[in-house]
Amino acid sequence: MSKQRPIGIFDSGLGGLTVANAVYRKLSKEQLIYFGDSAHLPYGDKSAATIQAYSVKICDVLLQKGCKLILIACNSASAAAFELVKAYVGSKAKVLNVIDPVVNYVADKYTGKHVGLIGTKQTVGSGVYEYQLKLKDPTIRFSALATPLLVPMIEEGFHNNNISEAIIEQYLSDPILQGIDTLILGCTHYPLIKDEINNYYQGKIEVIDSSVIVAEALEKYLEEEGLSAENLAADHEFLVSDITPSFEKAAELFFGRKVPLQKHILWE
Ligand code: DGL
Repeated sequence: MSKQRPIGIFDSGLGGLTVANAVYRKLSKEQLIYFGDSAHLPYGDKSAATIQAYSVKICDVLLQKGCKLILIACNSASAAAFELVKAYVGSKAKVLNVIDPVVNYVADKYTGKHVGLIGTKQTVGSGVYEYQLKLKDPTIRFSALATPLLVPMIEEGFHNNNISEAIIEQYLSDPILQGIDTLILGCTHYPLIKDEINNYYQGKIEVIDSSVIVAEALEKYLEEEGLSAENLAADHEFLVSDITPSFEKAAELFFGRKVPLQKHILWE
């Protein structure tokens, strides 16, 4: 497989751009093709079967673009569709998700401790973080809370204000999350409110933003597989299945710099 082929990264919308940005910063020689399924977001309150159907369609696009590896940059899709996507893609490309690197990091660092998670209904309801963590370390205590208001809140631009502070406080003060030693941000939208979550905990616990951990795991994986690109082969591409005037602005917020979005319809 050619090392110079691009890396495909997909999410339900723009949240996965936080992961794409961490990859872009760490792996400057890799060409990225991002796909945000903005026509079908949010994934977090859809059934696993629906998320699987969308994920497979997106993989077709990324495979057509010649991606050597597909990174599922959405926790909800990682939880619902990783195994299916891997089987579907077969030997055409490697497939990674955003959950496994975080599970490895947490299992190493927080053995025997109380680990908290916030995420969408799909991610929390799937139980995948707890299952994977307990496989690695049965002594870990795990508590998870679905926080479905956070994605629309972030997408509507409500962060660093009174409303976001009140919603975050309401969720994090839930009895389920009391006494945790660390909190996993189990949704790729949440890095945008990491500072506010850190403020809530006043730095007393580690708030885990998966984007950097995922980028590091990706770098290691490419090296191990002999798939690291030697130089940037072509420009990055940012595809979305629907586009509105506010998207470009939101994309800039998630990616940390301007990105030229192109519309690519998944279904006619
Ligand atoms: N970015 C998605 C995730 O990581 C959540 C957004 C959505 O519900 O579509 O789970």
